[in-house]
Amino acid sequence: MSEERTQVGIVGAGPAGLVLAHLLRSRGIDCVVLERQSRSYVEARIRAGVLEHGTVDLLTSLGLADRLHRERMVHHGIELLFERSAHRIPLTELAGREITIYGQHEVVKDLIAAWDGPLEFSVSSVSLSGLSSSAPIVSYVDAAGTARSLRCDVIAGCDGFHGVSRASVPDGVLTVHQRDYPHAWLGILAEAPPSSEELIYAHSARGFALHSMRSPTVTRMYLQVRPDEDLASWPDERIWSELRARLDRADPSWKLADGPILERSVAAMRSFVVSPMQYGQLFLAGDAAHIVPPTGAKGLNLAVADVKVLADALTSWYATGDRAGLDAYSETCLRRVWRVQHFSWWMTSMLHPTGDDPFDLALQLSQLRYVTSSRAAATSLAENYVGFPFP
Ligand code: APR
Ligand code: PHB
Repeated sequence: MSEERTQVGIVGAGPAGLVLAHLLRSRGIDCVVLERQSRSYVEARIRAGVLEHGTVDLLTSLGLADRLHRERMVHHGIELLFERSAHRIPLTELAGREITIYGQHEVVKDLIAAWDGPLEFSVSSVSLSGLSSSAPIVSYVDAAGTARSLRCDVIAGCDGFHGVSRASVPDGVLTVHQRDYPHAWLGILAEAPPSSEELIYAHSARGFALHSMRSPTVTRMYLQVRPDEDLASWPDERIWSELRARLDRADPSWKLADGPILERSVAAMRSFVVSPMQYGQLFLAGDAAHIVPPTGAKGLNLAVADVKVLADALTSWYATGDRAGLDAYSETCLRRVWRVQHFSWWMTSMLHPTGDDPFDLALQLSQLRYVTSSRAAATSLAENYVGFPFP
């Protein structure tokens, strides 16, 4: 087994791991990124499409946003549709910032293309040891089948919900907070021009639907379905028929454009947080530490906020030996994590009919009427949706 040395070992080359790598390199801190999947797999994984201004500003400051600025769509509002009536939430007017529509898998491609440091794809048998010591080790087998050992000062667990990092923390250390929802999202990517200039979040008696987009020719849409939904029971025509029904409105001129479906999938919905987000010299970031329902479009943005906190703490520690930022990492991140968890739960609860409780339906309609008639309520939604400034 060959042993190498680095300052920060990063497990996972998703948004969290890649943004952290670029942040550390920009501050002169050495790191190595280890990724289980192949580069093509990582780059092809379809993700959400909304970026908060904090994420865009950070990528821009790192010189990683040239293509993003060329190709993105900038939105200043979203539409809430309920009782066949459309209501615009003017995000920029209320919260002072815009949102960016740019495929998050495009962000991952940009981050990988711009990375010139050590990044190993297709590694296997990753295991972490010595987490309580000053020199934790990431052991793994590289793509060529060679057993390797990476001795680090710190390990960043950026390996997502199903990764090895969180599982490497001894039993009894972490507290898990979880909420499962009685629905999932059936998502499609279609070669069809968007039928709206902005995103549409639709609440209807048939269920929730979301109209989003990726470009002037590609639409991204979602339907609330049962958690155990069988994708095979959704032929194209049923998908389009259900989307048209749920996006229907009083305005007879509005039509949903359809076209060939390029990709389809069903994704479960959950709220999940572990605390603390650190153990010894292991720091968890992104989906390794928390999962939010996609209704708030927060997953990637929250991951980026985590690694910004971690990079700042590591920079201070290496520069001055001051561990205060590292010791407070979890507490600092969890403040934002719980704000985002609450907002994502609130958007999900407001927009997804459960179908069997008239009390819930009355609450949802009351909340929707309030947030589309009160400037104060709409401003609260807007400032959460566009995202709060990074720490
Ligand atoms: N060893 C190495 N890599 C691993 C391992 C492992 N044992 N387990 C998982 N990985 C890799 C995965 O293959 C994946 O590429 O870690 C990466 C984790 O990336 P994400 O799951 O995208 O998580 P994160 O980087 O935290 O991104 C969070 O981005 O697009 C959004 O909705 C998405 O909420 C998610 C957010
Ligand atoms: C997307 O475009 O994929 C998207 C947009 C908004 C959401 C979730 C997903 O809330």
